[in-house]
Amino acid sequence: MTASAAGKAILLGEHAVVYGRPAIAVPLSDVRATAEVEPLRRGQGTWIEARDLQQRYQLGQFYDADVARPLQLTVENALGYLQVPETQRDLRLVIHSHIPIASGMGSGTAVAAAIVRALAQYCGQALSAEQVSRLVYQTEIELHGTPSGIDNSVVAYERPIYFVKDVTMLPLKVGAPLHVVVAHTGVASRTRDAVAQVRRCWETDKRAYDLLFDRIGAVVDDAKEAIGAGRLEHLGRLMDLNGQLLSDLGVSSVELERLIGAAHNAGSLGAKLSGGGLGGCMIALVSSEGRAPVAQALRSAGAERIVHTTVRPG
Ligand code: PMV
Repeated sequence: MTASAAGKAILLGEHAVVYGRPAIAVPLSDVRATAEVEPLRRGQGTWIEARDLQQRYQLGQFYDADVARPLQLTVENALGYLQVPETQRDLRLVIHSHIPIASGMGSGTAVAAAIVRALAQYCGQALSAEQVSRLVYQTEIELHGTPSGIDNSVVAYERPIYFVKDVTMLPLKVGAPLHVVVAHTGVASRTRDAVAQVRRCWETDKRAYDLLFDRIGAVVDDAKEAIGAGRLEHLGRLMDLNGQLLSDLGVSSVELERLIGAAHNAGSLGAKLSGGGLGGCMIALVSSEGRAPVAQALRSAGAERIVHTTVRPG
């Protein structure tokens, strides 16, 4: 039984989305995580093999490794949700991911969604996108505290979405193809650290930060219209503006700004950090001819991984 899930990129609205403002995210369908389940002999227990890391973890054991707990918790919660009896839990899950870890491309979420899907298939149960999304979200809350829920939504539905925490998750109307290039700075960054940093700033000056979140929310709503109407140059300018506001929030970095500058100089329509920031990745909107020169410029400026995607009208 094998299942997979796509990576994701936040196009606009990260951080402000944690505070109830809207955000827009797109799936990265060409970079995926896969999970394969196979039965083991009676009494062997449940094993998770993270092939890319060459590590294996057993359920119920403690490991001094950052990745062990999220994998174990995802599997425990999924087995519980699917009501798999103890006697049928002798199995091995083999995980592969082509999505860079701690990059803002949704690697942890995609691995979790692939695990949930593979275990459901193994048990002969069909889960809806909504069920996958909710189950992954539940685990992310246990691990990270206050995620907005945008990552699990875009990954589980694998379509572009307009999202407001606890309020809306709308499939986005796309008027013209959106060509985007996502590039990793090579600097690993943990979303929860960036979210905690923004929270500390907000607590010291709620008025100023709420105003920044409002401005980001207004840019996202404007962008939603621009995407629907296929007004790509306007969308690019809005991405630049959102990038500036993220920098004002304090989550940009030298490496991110270097890549954003390189994308601008190579003719991107707009570019900004994507995800938690403080490292991780950036995203550029390009024309179809602009894709190769922008990718080349990003590579020359030190990008470690570059992923392209085209969000099709619909
Ligand atoms: O770092 P990522 O790609 O998981 O993005 C996090 C987006 C935030 O808005 C910063 C946090 C959240 O939970 O929405």
